[in-house]
Amino acid sequence: MDPQPLKGRKAIVTGAARGIGHAIAQRLAIEGARVAIIDVDGTGASRAVAEIGGHALAITADISQEEEVDRAFAQVIDEFGGLDILVNNAGIVGTDTPVHDLQVADWDRVLDINLKGTYLCSRAAVRHMIPQKSGVIVSMASISGKEGNANMAPYSVSKAGVICFTKTLAKEMLDYGIRVNCLAPALINSPLLDGMEADRVEFLTSKIPMGRLGRPEEVAATVLFLASDESTFTTGACLDISGGRATY
Ligand SMILES: NC(=O)c1ccc[n+]([C@@H]2O[C@H](COP(=O)([O-])OP(=O)(O)OC[C@H]3O[C@@H](n4cnc5c(N)ncnc54)[C@H](O)[C@@H]3O)[C@@H](O)[C@H]2O)c1
Repeated sequence: MDPQPLKGRKAIVTGAARGIGHAIAQRLAIEGARVAIIDVDGTGASRAVAEIGGHALAITADISQEEEVDRAFAQVIDEFGGLDILVNNAGIVGTDTPVHDLQVADWDRVLDINLKGTYLCSRAAVRHMIPQKSGVIVSMASISGKEGNANMAPYSVSKAGVICFTKTLAKEMLDYGIRVNCLAPALINSPLLDGMEADRVEFLTSKIPMGRLGRPEEVAATVLFLASDESTFTTGACLDISGGRATY
């Protein structure tokens, strides 16, 4: 592999103030990319940029808001002089609630961020990538989007949507040299787990044949593969990172 396979590439990673996104942004920067972090947590994004160093950029924006997304992408493209890689990573898990008790506001919030946010950011990216006839998009789905986790309907549905959105957009982008893929991780050790009930974390960990949580760095390594020229025949795919949990 090239010593710096992403040298000269310009990347946006959403939700990279912490957790998996932080590890992805760090890895892309190590591999030569200039990275912009778009996160609703502006303080965390600035802290992450200071840790990553180089010429990283922090932008505060809510990915579920159309105007904020378009403004943030315009700012990155202006400052970087282009955009080659988008990683749709920002997402929330929502409440631990069965459907019969679920409030509409909770449903809407998760779908707005996880699914509409992925669409809005992807749209902003491909509007720039189509004329240059190149680019890659990697989105964070989840194993729950393939299986459906009880008490996590909005989350599971949003991630199923991300998988289908990936396959749809990949087909639309074939003629423009833009590849679109997603990942389906099982449980990964990140601050997202702090917002989940302890017994839920224990249950979901017990479903992983390897018997452990995944690490953000392991997800980042797979994102690197999909974002680099090592995966030029891969588009419309959903890659599992599940310690053996995924069976299809
Ligand atoms: N941790 C897991 O077990 C796991 C498993 C499968 C998939 N995922 C997915 O991976 C992605 C990252 O998860 P994580 O575990 O690092 O989560 P996390 O909660 O640790 O980090 C999520 C980041 O997204 C940001 N964010 C949230 N809402 C936002 C919004 N509206 N606009 C912009 N930024 C926003 C947060 O500020 C935070 O920095 C998510 O899409 C998640 O669904 C996580």
